[in-house]
Amino acid sequence: MNVYEQVIELAKRRGFFWPSYSIYGGESGFYDYGPLGVMLKDNVIRTWKESYIADGGILIDTPVIVPEAVFRTSGHLEKFSDLATECPKCHNREKLETVMKASGSELVIKNEEEANKFLQNNTVKCVKCGTRIMKAFESKQMFKIPEQVSSGNLYLRPETAQGIFVNFKLLNTVFRGKLPMAVAQLGKGFRNEISPRQSLLRMKELNMGEVEVFVLPDKKYWKELTIGEQINFVPKNGPEVSSDVKSAFENGIISSNAMGYFINKTFMILKSIGLRPENIRFRQQHDDELAHYSVDCWDAEALLDESWVEIVGIADRNDLKKHQDATGESMSVKVDDSDVIPSIIEPAYGIDRMTLSLLMHSYYTRENGFKVLRLPQSVAPYHSAVLPLVNKDGLDDMARDLHEKLLLRDPYIYFDQSGSIGKRYARQDEIGTPYCITLDQDTIKEKTVTVRERDSTKQIRISMESLIQHGILGNPDIIKFRDSLK
Ligand code: GLY
Repeated sequence: MNVYEQVIELAKRRGFFWPSYSIYGGESGFYDYGPLGVMLKDNVIRTWKESYIADGGILIDTPVIVPEAVFRTSGHLEKFSDLATECPKCHNREKLETVMKASGSELVIKNEEEANKFLQNNTVKCVKCGTRIMKAFESKQMFKIPEQVSSGNLYLRPETAQGIFVNFKLLNTVFRGKLPMAVAQLGKGFRNEISPRQSLLRMKELNMGEVEVFVLPDKKYWKELTIGEQINFVPKNGPEVSSDVKSAFENGIISSNAMGYFINKTFMILKSIGLRPENIRFRQQHDDELAHYSVDCWDAEALLDESWVEIVGIADRNDLKKHQDATGESMSVKVDDSDVIPSIIEPAYGIDRMTLSLLMHSYYTRENGFKVLRLPQSVAPYHSAVLPLVNKDGLDDMARDLHEKLLLRDPYIYFDQSGSIGKRYARQDEIGTPYCITLDQDTIKEKTVTVRERDSTKQIRISMESLIQHGILGNPDIIKFRDSLK
């Protein structure tokens, strides 16, 4: 089994995520987050959100149902579609590019007419049954709500971004007219994927964390760039390079300060939630890959098994002018007595893809075959678990009492008294709990407990008093212990 398959098995068994509606045969493209998955995903979201708030970002929450006029203006109504094929024999539907790739062609096809010409002149086969495919069609990616309302058609949003753009003036007034301004929105997006697959990587209903950074168009500036970490860049017109973001901007690899700033920020967010930095790269999209709304885009990609997968897209876009033209409402701000319509740098985070990637990058097996998630403390569903070594001599009562006291400071503490201590450690290791607190015979005599660290499996003994006073996360003894393991 590859890492993906092993993580899928673990995710279902331990309650991170699983396919939705399975008792009714399942519905492809929909996944549920289970108890641990909700906690993990919420921690990813919190890390993302706090990082933007700390950078001066502001938040908004707008409806998932959007009137057609908005998407006519944004271009989604006309252009947000995929070229698709349907096998004439088994009726399997795929994206055109999927069947073409499987038949050995990397050609980028732009419209239905070109697609049909290609399929007439080349042999492209169904990836399921091998039947030759001769026709392609355009498949709209937005879900239209069937009910008509008097004001016109309504759609489920494919991106949260438009909810920010249409509110630009109100937001900027709240922000006291200043630029640059970053607005973040977390929420569901909906895409009618032709062939949803690979669980959290391609779903019809997805969790999006989008940030729209409004900047002056002639500068596209956010904040001074500092020499940060080495990042792997794959520019569209040049060889792959490893560089810090400041040099990448100065050497013309990245076209604006703001693009550079948010590439670096994204790298730091991905690293802090537990992706392995050596398995992250930033790839610039080629012109024929760009979405209809963007003029430049760098994708943060994670290496998952053998494939690089897009998990964040950082696009350069100009939607405000379109909304101004369509509505007659001004979208400009006063800059030195002139009216200026801001440009937008948009770091758009696929929260589900980030969550799957961090599970895959954190997963490993010990020599004995036991599975471990090397999750950072900041995203692990539970920070620690309290385990009485045996359920006698009053140890179980002491453990319960300690657990209750620790919960006053931190609710993310598990309690487990069933099974051998080895089994209980293994259970916590495979859900990524960083520390296990064990009460044993010495606890009765000395009022001390052992604290076992997940990855090294090393232990220290500390006093119960210290644990109750400082908790786990801020405990000086545990911090010293953790630092000694590095
Ligand atoms: N707003 C970015 C996206 O739709 O992917």
